[in-house]
Amino acid sequence: MANTSDAEHDRLAAAVEILDRLVAFDTTSARSNIELIDWVAEYLQSHGIGSTRSAAFEGKANLFATIGPAERGGVILSGPKVVVTRTADGAVHGFSAVCTHQGCTVDVVGHGTIDCPCHGSRFDAATGAVVAGPALRPLPPIGVEVRNGQVFRT
Ligand code: FES
Repeated sequence: MANTSDAEHDRLAAAVEILDRLVAFDTTSARSNIELIDWVAEYLQSHGIGSTRSAAFEGKANLFATIGPAERGGVILSGPKVVVTRTADGAVHGFSAVCTHQGCTVDVVGHGTIDCPCHGSRFDAATGAVVAGPALRPLPPIGVEVRNGQVFRT
């Protein structure tokens, strides 16, 4: 494969193998999906990822899994457009939730970053600094403090 490293090629081959296996399941809506659900649950478990099955109705199920840190890295408030993060050291940080690229509201906090859905900018959850563009400027800080388990603007 041109222009790919061996590692990239291996990851792509593994992904194709998984896709081949998934599309081989008969997922016709009138039939059971339990065989597919079992396979996915076992695959996730083999990678240390737990899942929860919910039975939709006879012969059908849904599977829920969370990949990545179980704890939420922060919350985004839509009223004042503030994002409040908590870093691993327990410190709480506040920033404007308005992306400095073109003004979209950031929508995800996790894995140490605050992410913008519009063009993919990512900001450091502890400092607001740009981790990935196209944004060039950090998210402006907003003073917050925790009192009695509640977050207040300072
Ligand atoms: S507005 Fe956020 S990346 Fe463009």
